[in-house]
Amino acid sequence: MTGQGLPTGRSSRLDNKLVLITGAARGIGRACATEFAAEGADLVLLDIAADIDGCPYPMGTWSQLRHTAELCRGYGVHVTADRLDVRDSAAGSRIVERVLDEHGRIDALINNAGLAAPSGKPLHEVTDEEWQLMLDVDLTGAFRMLRSAVPGMIRHGAGSVVNIASTAGMVGYRHFAGYVAAKHGLVGLTKAAALDYAPLGVRVNALCPGSVRDDPELEGRMLGEIARSLDLPVAEHEHTFIAAQPTNRFVAARDVAKAALWLASDESRDVTGAVIAVDGGFSVR
Ligand SMILES: NC(=O)c1ccc[n+]([C@@H]2O[C@H](COP(=O)([O-])OP(=O)(O)OC[C@H]3O[C@@H](n4cnc5c(N)ncnc54)[C@H](O)[C@@H]3O)[C@@H](O)[C@H]2O)c1
Repeated sequence: MTGQGLPTGRSSRLDNKLVLITGAARGIGRACATEFAAEGADLVLLDIAADIDGCPYPMGTWSQLRHTAELCRGYGVHVTADRLDVRDSAAGSRIVERVLDEHGRIDALINNAGLAAPSGKPLHEVTDEEWQLMLDVDLTGAFRMLRSAVPGMIRHGAGSVVNIASTAGMVGYRHFAGYVAAKHGLVGLTKAAALDYAPLGVRVNALCPGSVRDDPELEGRMLGEIARSLDLPVAEHEHTFIAAQPTNRFVAARDVAKAALWLASDESRDVTGAVIAVDGGFSVR
C-alpha cells in the first residue's frame, strides 16, 4: 500500500474512534477511508454502489466499495461496508441504529457522497427533476445523515460531522447552478447545525475542496465528469483549471482527507462551524 493516493504507515490519531463515511467507494471517500484507517479508526463505509437515474455518469460500484474496505482492513482496523443511497432517510436511520447497537457510538460522520451533474447548462434549461436530484443528494443527503447520527452523538456528549462541500459552496461556477446552490446550502447547513450542537459537544464543519485530481488509485472521476458536462476535452479542462489555481496544481484527494481527519479528531476540539477551503488559494482571489 505505497501508492500516491494511499497512506504508507500506521499511526494512532483516531484509535478507538468509529467513523461513518458516505460515498466511500472511490475518490475522496476512499482517500478519507484509507487515511482514517491508517490512523486507527474503525469504519462504516457507505455508498449507493449503483447508478442514479438522471445522473449522466456512473456511480461507484459494490466492488469498488469492497476494494476500499479491503484497503482499510490492511491497516488492521474493523470495517463494514453497506449500500446506502443518502436520498433514503429510512435506510440511513436503520444503518445508524445498527451501528449504535453494535458499537455504542459514532464519533465522526463524513458526509462525502455527492454528484457534479446533471450540470453544464444555464439555469433556465435545468428541469425540475435535475434541480431536485442535485439538491436531494448534495444537500439533503447530508441533512438526513446528520439528523440520524446527531442524537447518538449528543447522548455520548461528543461527535464531529464533516461536510464535504466545495469551492462551489463559496463562489459561483458558470453553468453549475444546481451544484453551486446545493453546496452553498451545505455550507449554510454546517453553520446552523454547528450552533445547534456546540453546547452539546457535537461539532459540525465543512471542507471546500477546489479541483481535485482524479487519482487512478482512488478511481475518483468527478473532475473528468465536470469536463464532460462542459463539453471540454479533459486535457483542456485541466489546463483551464490549473491556470486558475494559485499553486499551479490540482488538489490531491489525500490532502482533503487529511483535513477531514484533523476535523474528525480531538485535535480540532475548538473548531466548529468552520468552512475550510482546501483549494490551493483558488477562492481567495
Ligand atoms: N473531485 C473534485 O474536484 C471535488 C471538488 C470539490 C468537492 N468535491 C466533493 O467531494 C465529494 C466526493 O467527490 P469525488 O471527487 O470523490 O467524486 P466521485 O464521483 O469520484 O465519488 C463520489 C462517490 O459518491 C457516491 N454517491 C453519489 N451519490 C450517492 C448517493 N445518493 N448515496 C450514496 N453514495 C452516493 C458515488 O457512488 C461515488 O462513489 C462530493 O461531495 C463532491 O461534490 C469534489
